[in-house]
Amino acid sequence: MVKIIALANQKGGVGKTTSTINLAYALVQKGQKVLMVDMDPQSSLTIYCGHDPRVLEQQQKTVYWALMKEKEMSEILISDNPSVIASSIHLASAEPELVTLWDSATVLRDKLSSIKNNYDFILIDCPPSLTLLTINALASADTVLIPVKTDYLSIMGIPLLLDTVEKLQKRTNTRLKVFGVLPTMFNSRNTHDNDCLNDLKQSLEPRIRIFDPVKRSTSFDRSAAEGKSTLELSPGTPGTEVYNSLAEAIIAYGKEN
Ligand SMILES: Nc1ncnc2c1ncn2[C@@H]1O[C@H](COP(=O)(O)OP(=O)(O)OP(=O)(O)O)[C@@H](O)[C@H]1O
Ligand SMILES: [Mg+2]
Repeated sequence: MVKIIALANQKGGVGKTTSTINLAYALVQKGQKVLMVDMDPQSSLTIYCGHDPRVLEQQQKTVYWALMKEKEMSEILISDNPSVIASSIHLASAEPELVTLWDSATVLRDKLSSIKNNYDFILIDCPPSLTLLTINALASADTVLIPVKTDYLSIMGIPLLLDTVEKLQKRTNTRLKVFGVLPTMFNSRNTHDNDCLNDLKQSLEPRIRIFDPVKRSTSFDRSAAEGKSTLELSPGTPGTEVYNSLAEAIIAYGKEN
């Protein structure tokens, strides 16, 4: 059975897209069939994967056309392993349109249902907001992974995200679980980073799993420019091993549930 994982945090620039790409690549390397869904109008994931959002928009091959214009996911899918469902800036205009639908929170879930069983894992890259695009991702997901930068302002946003997850668990998506928190861009020589990591552990463990932190490295920026996952481009980069062990944890979760 497919497992759907939303990578969510309303805070911007915490490593959601970077983690989606590297995790997808690690899962593929371990023999899994993976689909990545770009739910962010910024289209970072789409661009990272080497696609031009404007061209895809003209071809009506972005997630907007599936959510709002009755296209099937199979028609907009860019098939590979990992496969990609792309986005473009036009997705921003889906928010006010979604509000008017009675099933506004579950449009993505319904649309994914026709293709989801072709995959072992679907990773949804969320925008930095808690509006309807993220709610649709969380309503589709079995579990949510929360990337968080080890700085004060980033960790302060986690309670609001956990509150949102709890609200969804009550009605819209009763099976939704929190997979864990993934600290990112961690510099072990920086006292503030260590303080934040300790704060995270103290406030959330054992209720929520805190994964080993992904170390800070400029290789992650370089990989984005090259359009390749860091695991693929610079496999020895400190921090990338975390994505491999996370992929193993996700595969184990897939087998258990
Ligand atoms: N471990 C890391 N070390 C150093 N830089 C990193 C690391 N992980 C990600 N980055 C860089 O940090 C920036 C933000 O990462 P990313 O785009 O993945 O965050 P995001 O949460 O998806 O952002 P947004 O909220 O805008 O979608 C990027 O330039 C990326 O290359
Ligand atoms: Mg992003």
